[in-house]
Amino acid sequence: MKIVFAISEITPYASTGGLADVGAALPVALEQQGVEVIRIMPMYRRLLEGDSLKTDTGLRLNVPVGLRTLQAEVWQSGDPGPVTYFIRKDEFFDRRELYSLPERDYDDNFERFVFFQKAVVALMDALTVRADIVHANDWETGLIPYFLDYGIQGMGRGRKEKVVYTIHNLAYQGIFPDSEFPYSNLPYSCFALDELEFYGNINSMKGGIVRADKLTTVSKRYASEILTPEFGCGLEGVLGDAEGKLHGIVNGVDYTTWDPSTDILIAAPYSPENLSGKKTCQKALLERFELKAPQANKRVPVIGMVSRLVDQKGMDLLAEAMDRIMEEEVYFVLLGSGQEEYQAICQHWAKKWPERFGVYIGYHNGLAHQIEAGADIFMMPSRFEPCGLNQLYSLRYGTIPLVHATGGLDDTIENISEDAVAGNGFKFEEYTVQALLGTLQKALFIYQDQAKWLAIQKRAMKEEFSWDRSAKEYIALYEELLS
Ligand code: ADP
Ligand code: GLC
Repeated sequence: MKIVFAISEITPYASTGGLADVGAALPVALEQQGVEVIRIMPMYRRLLEGDSLKTDTGLRLNVPVGLRTLQAEVWQSGDPGPVTYFIRKDEFFDRRELYSLPERDYDDNFERFVFFQKAVVALMDALTVRADIVHANDWETGLIPYFLDYGIQGMGRGRKEKVVYTIHNLAYQGIFPDSEFPYSNLPYSCFALDELEFYGNINSMKGGIVRADKLTTVSKRYASEILTPEFGCGLEGVLGDAEGKLHGIVNGVDYTTWDPSTDILIAAPYSPENLSGKKTCQKALLERFELKAPQANKRVPVIGMVSRLVDQKGMDLLAEAMDRIMEEEVYFVLLGSGQEEYQAICQHWAKKWPERFGVYIGYHNGLAHQIEAGADIFMMPSRFEPCGLNQLYSLRYGTIPLVHATGGLDDTIENISEDAVAGNGFKFEEYTVQALLGTLQKALFIYQDQAKWLAIQKRAMKEEFSWDRSAKEYIALYEELLS
């Protein structure tokens, strides 16, 4: 079976969040189970300037975008693993960020990603790839089924491939004004109520939803949540019509990257058999943020957080709760970037509690690992969360997640019982400050009992959220489509 996996981010080449982690790990897990995978992503500045191995294949593709015909260069990764092509067009992708600057999205995003998606189809045809399945992800690839059907000129192609479309986050739909529709060169009939049209605009994600043969999202609970007005972001009706082809498949963890026994980015390795290295990691983390060391022999819990600083991640709740959280005897260490108002408030917290609150604004992979390793509790109060990966990484690092019961957080985290002998995290139901604080207090209370806490950590660290299991579920879907 041959799969073309089209995605706009892959770790380590370029990443803004969990999408890139999926782009890195799922194709590898698929290959391990005998599926042939070709990945295609844009060649951003981070890739141009980074030191990953890449070569120019010499192949050039002519890609019509409205009235212009632009040339795409096709580069290829030299890394082991699935064949990976990078679509190079410096006019579109040699930029500081992937999609936006802090204050606004790039204003040519539709044109940029029409170009990318057409280049994917043009590349498949130039190489006569003959894929069985094209697996597209999120809004940046939502129009791929159209270009597979109509061709890059919009004159017809005749699709032989089946399309699987995965929604990683319904909050980002790729909505653009109708005036930009001509960049697609698609027939105007595609801009219809049951196609790409959405309240007079183009909706890229809607395209993927209506035209894909199978639709997936990244947890079972999110698969049902998105059928409701609260989580459907206006697409609940469209998704309701597509419910028959919608499946929830929870993400996995790449344990070759996220495991404290082999992680070279942390201060000391550790495992469920011997957690002493975690203390070294904690000490290093507090020093890294220049926080005041606790008194000798005193255990003071460290709350960690690694997050995009956006509404989705529960930043509003945290902003309201922070004074009360810091009334407790705790440290808080936070890494993130995103909306300006949230970045500012995080910096304000670091000034307000200089001895106990550490903040790093920006994207820093090594620090993300060091926080996972050095913290005791991982804070993830997301308002909604399609899957969430950090709670899963935290489990492996013995850093007990504190989460809001939503989407993938609800699917993967089981509340720790009163006697603490069952469960893997702390979970609150109502999205309120009281619920968050109540749950934190429970966590802090249990933390005082060192033996109990250690038992919880060991249990969490032994949990398996491997990609093998998720890959099997995707393969079953692919096979269903091909049978
Ligand atoms: P989302 O994709 O919604 O951001 P996930 O939990 O699925 O949430 O994945 C987040 C991923 O992005 C994790 O690998 C996390 O470590 C990483 N990440 C998020 N923010 C940062 C940051 N500021 N620096 C480094 N890594 C980050
Ligand atoms: C999105 C979601 C996140 C999910 C990730 C990978 O960014 O916000 O919950 O884990 O995609 O699927």
